[in-house]
Amino acid sequence: MSAVASAPKGLEGVVAAETEMSFIDGQKGILEYVGIPIGELSSNSTFEETVFLLWNKRLPKQNELDEFTQNLRKRYELPKGMEQRVTSLPKTAEPMHVLRTLVSSLAMYDSDPNANDVDAAQDKALNILGHAPTIVAYFDRHRRGLDLVHPDTSLSFAENFLYMLNGEKPTETMARAFDICMILHADHGLNNSTFTTRVIISTLSDVYSAITGAIGSLRGPLHGGANEGVMKMLNEIPTVDDAEAYIMGKIQRKDKIMGFGHRVYKTKDPRATDLQSLAKKLAEDTGNQELYAKSHIIEQVMERELGAKGIYPNVDFYSATTYHCIGLKLDLFTPMFALSRIGGWAGHMLEQLADNRLYRPKAQYVGAHDQPYVAMSDR
Ligand code: ACO
Repeated sequence: MSAVASAPKGLEGVVAAETEMSFIDGQKGILEYVGIPIGELSSNSTFEETVFLLWNKRLPKQNELDEFTQNLRKRYELPKGMEQRVTSLPKTAEPMHVLRTLVSSLAMYDSDPNANDVDAAQDKALNILGHAPTIVAYFDRHRRGLDLVHPDTSLSFAENFLYMLNGEKPTETMARAFDICMILHADHGLNNSTFTTRVIISTLSDVYSAITGAIGSLRGPLHGGANEGVMKMLNEIPTVDDAEAYIMGKIQRKDKIMGFGHRVYKTKDPRATDLQSLAKKLAEDTGNQELYAKSHIIEQVMERELGAKGIYPNVDFYSATTYHCIGLKLDLFTPMFALSRIGGWAGHMLEQLADNRLYRPKAQYVGAHDQPYVAMSDR
């Protein structure tokens, strides 16, 4: 059945919220957070400062950033009892399922989980932002049979996560690379998971439910799950010399190539440009030049074959190589996206709460009318 004119399939082009957080020009490949080009932020900012910017719509003064950072660091450790929850989970669980489930369960450790005024919501969002990396790192160590490494509140968000995961402090280069990834993934207009957040909070449900729903949305392979798909694809290509034939085969079979295409961008995603430079440098530093070379060939073939259709690398394409070079396991790629995007989801939630109206669109009924109720024995 075709969609009615007022409801384009996938709500393409529909404006469903106002935001002051990110601006995207998909034709020109521009992304700004609060008016600042993303490249400026990835070159000069930190993830903590970027989250402050998104939540407050301005850059912080030094004392404000210090206060915000300290406040976040206080939330690194999990509430009492949560650690046991993590270590009782099946080691075979997918980290995205773990993150979704445990973010949801944080509500049960909050003495006032449903408070929804903007200040309370921001405080809860900070809790989730602080706890989420610990959930992921603890679970990863639990499944590897290793002792948990407790957070170090002297470390930044990026440093602390890699420290908890690996049990040793990351090099400055690795920590900065990871910090840049966090900046680049923090917000992106009304993407599917952000829309999910706004829809859920618009019922005046609670912060935990809104972020939990968003994590569920993000894990889909058409959304944040694509970075894992990219890595699987790169792993399937035996050598750099096989990359072109492999991609041509996929194009001929009309397969969707993970890490390419975007609902909004019809040119290269500016985040992909930043991540490409990062991936190239990290690949050289870590001996992963083959991986970068395969990615680069795929991009060239895709541009030649599908560029005219507006299909270019999106944020997920080079983030796969970047995360691999940082030493992250495949099934942690999408959780990394989530850790960062909590900043964006929370910012949208605060905007929604500040000027809320329940989301309640209509469905066009396209089924039959006046049907008889047929008795069970006659069906
Ligand atoms: N590979 C090959 N062809 C593609 C790709 C791709 N990655 N993306 C789109 N196309 C083609 C489609 O086959 C379709 O062709 P047709 O018109 O000949 O049928 C056309 O481009 C339009 O594609 P849609 O899927 O209708 O575009 P939509 O805007 O709904 O989808 C999406 C955007 C889901 C991102 C899509 O490009 C895709 O599936 N990409 C791969 C998955 C991916 O990388 N997702 C991450 C997106 S970024 C993010 O969420 C973080």
